[in-house]
Amino acid sequence: MKRTFIGAISLAVLMMVSSGTVMAKDANTIYNSKCKMCHKFDKKKVGPAFKDMNKDSAILKATITNGRKMMPKWGKKLTEEEINSLVVLIQSKQG
Ligand code: HEC
Repeated sequence: MKRTFIGAISLAVLMMVSSGTVMAKDANTIYNSKCKMCHKFDKKKVGPAFKDMNKDSAILKATITNGRKMMPKWGKKLTEEEINSLVVLIQSKQG
């Protein structure tokens, strides 16, 4: 009984870790081709640094999708899944 429980937990952790890695890689590729020219992870460039951005996933997602001032809208160029993975990437740079 105890064994099964531990097994289930390690499987869940493993799945979280591996899917996290895949998502981070995709988001990094998108970041390099579409965001890097205006956003750095840790310093202000044209736009704010990822680490200084809003911490609310819903706000981050809405801004990426619909744009704001100089920030282009990505809702038609990226899938919802890609936008979600970018939100995860941004949050991974925040303390
Ligand atoms: C042409 C330059 C440019 C590009 C390319 C760009 N951004 Fe932005 N971004 C900005 C600017 C400027 C702002 C600040 C908007 C404002 O003043 O309200 C911003 C704001 C944001 C915000 C809101 C931050 C907050 O705290 O609310 C997010 C999230 C964001 N960008 C993510 C991205 C992502 C992800 C990409 C790549 C898919 C990207 N940006 C590409 C210029 C850019």
